[in-house]
Amino acid sequence: MTSFDLRKHSQPTSDAVRDAILAKPGFGDYFSDHMAHVRYTTEQGWHGAEVVPYGPLSLDPAAAVLHYAQEIFEGIKAYRHADGSVWTFRPEKNAERFKKSARRLALPELDTETFLDSLRALVRTDAAWVPTPTSDADECSLYLRPFMIASEKFLGVRPSHEVDYYVIASPAAAYFGGEVKPVSIWLSQTYNRAAPGGTGFAKCGGNYAASMLAQSEAAANGCAQVAFLDAVEHKYLEELGGMNLFLVYKDGRIVTPSLSDSILDGVTRSSLLQLARESGYTPEERRVSIDEWREGAASGEITEAFACGTAAVITPIGELVTPDDRIKHDTDATGPVASALRKQLLDLQYGRVEDTNGWLTRL
Ligand code: COI
Repeated sequence: MTSFDLRKHSQPTSDAVRDAILAKPGFGDYFSDHMAHVRYTTEQGWHGAEVVPYGPLSLDPAAAVLHYAQEIFEGIKAYRHADGSVWTFRPEKNAERFKKSARRLALPELDTETFLDSLRALVRTDAAWVPTPTSDADECSLYLRPFMIASEKFLGVRPSHEVDYYVIASPAAAYFGGEVKPVSIWLSQTYNRAAPGGTGFAKCGGNYAASMLAQSEAAANGCAQVAFLDAVEHKYLEELGGMNLFLVYKDGRIVTPSLSDSILDGVTRSSLLQLARESGYTPEERRVSIDEWREGAASGEITEAFACGTAAVITPIGELVTPDDRIKHDTDATGPVASALRKQLLDLQYGRVEDTNGWLTRL
């Protein structure tokens, strides 16, 4: 058990301001009063675990992360249950993925116990920042953002000898804002997110930086997110800018692109594959071409599409917009399968149904 030194001497946000923020948190706009921190050096390993007041970092302008993007992150939520207790969902999966990302980015691995202890230390310190849902449709939570940066002052290109790990927390409502409703997605035909042998499977800032120009193109075309095809054949669906993708077939199959070194192994993605199987659907992980989606939507064989992720939960895709055409689904309402899976997942995360898989961890 890592013991986190608590330093609470910040000027905490007043109750009135915090309550106003929690009533309408948006996504990623506000932050709690503290952050967790653990330092790494090659000589000392991980040390100095502490919870400190939230605030700007002091980094040398030559810190490696600022030049070579040696950085990884995670996204995980803390949910308040009806009895006031606070829980998180499958955090060991995030801890494992964080290690996998660290290996790919030549960063030191953080052990699972310290990862979990850092979440717990921060959430217990800033417990008042975990929003209380006002109804079953309210998907508010405290979004936790663990991240690791190369902080050594050195311009040579090699793995940093000094690294800092932090967790910050941001109260969150739905990622796409307001009520859940189908979004339009733009198919990028100009840009790729990741290529074989690259960093696509790792949760590193560079993958997201690489998606932003395409994301701007999506926004310019009236779309909320961008979808990427594989970088070799430009034919197979990979993932969206910041979430995985599922297609629903009328015969009960639920298909998502199989994992590869260019696709992120989403915790929500893997949970939905299991929940779908338990609910009698036939989940399939395999390559899916854009033509299969186009033809399946036109023939009625593919009835729904949705995006999923920690931030996005399950967000229905109303249409996929390409430079040449629109692959249409229901643009007004969430389809029945996405609705049912979404409810099942949220009910589980908020403790409204029994956690038969042991996926919840109390913070
Ligand atoms: C998440 O779903 O947690 C993500 O990291 C996606 C995005 C907000 C970057």
